[in-house]
Amino acid sequence: MELIDSPAAMRSWTTAHRRNGRVVGCVPTMGALHEGHLYLVEVARRRTDVVVMSIFVNPLQFNRRDDFDRYPRPLADDLAAAAAAGVDAVYAPTAAVMYPSGYETHVEPGPLADPMEGAGRPGHFRGMATVVLKLLNAMAPDVAVFGEKDFQQLAIIRRMATDFDLGTEIVGAPTRREDDGLAMSSRNRRLSTSERAAAVCVPRALAAAAAQHISGERRSAELEAVARSVIEAEPLARLEYVRVADAATLQAVEMITADAVMAIAVWFGEVRLIDNRRLDT
Ligand code: PAF
Repeated sequence: MELIDSPAAMRSWTTAHRRNGRVVGCVPTMGALHEGHLYLVEVARRRTDVVVMSIFVNPLQFNRRDDFDRYPRPLADDLAAAAAAGVDAVYAPTAAVMYPSGYETHVEPGPLADPMEGAGRPGHFRGMATVVLKLLNAMAPDVAVFGEKDFQQLAIIRRMATDFDLGTEIVGAPTRREDDGLAMSSRNRRLSTSERAAAVCVPRALAAAAAQHISGERRSAELEAVARSVIEAEPLARLEYVRVADAATLQAVEMITADAVMAIAVWFGEVRLIDNRRLDT
């Protein structure tokens, strides 16, 4: 497995493979790899001949400095896990390479970025879209795989790829879950033992709402109330938002009349977890 740290070397790697007729896949990450990331690699490998993973903790997408500082960075473990998963190259530029002195250009996403995560984390999606564009420019992949746990992020990236004619196919991969249903996330490792046990209320809240939806409930306020009551019953959990939104526009809906998604953000101590569940018609 090759370790690449500059955009020029990265582009040469992709160009060489493409010249040899290989289809190039990529999996952008911020490291702290878990089984969910390795599943993204598996999805990429099924569709492509060679896979590059990027590992870069992007300062632009953190709206809180302490969150950025505390983000886990176990690079040696990550490289070993990537190699074991069959990754062919890791692109791991430094912040100075990504944002050298004088850097000043950013991607401004549209209304998809306004609600939910966008409302609670000002600047997050601007920073995310900027780094994803830079990473895709450097890796120049045919296919890029992202997790559906960050479904708002995925929608914004798809929109950007279309709007900017990137020519990269954006593929969403289903969320991987622990045995008790908790969505896999690099942030889970920051939960204390009691917070980890409490965090199961997040998938349970979504499951309770989904069960009501399957029974015929279409009013968003009712479904949100069902999820809220599950979270509020857990003393260690603090609900930031739970929202039913149209699956295509991500705008809040009063009644579910088309494919929808319930999205949720919950705090456990200093750790903020997000999850979502489709509520399709
Ligand atoms: O989902 C992530 O890990 C990050 O937001 C991404 C897409 C790698 C951009 O930094």
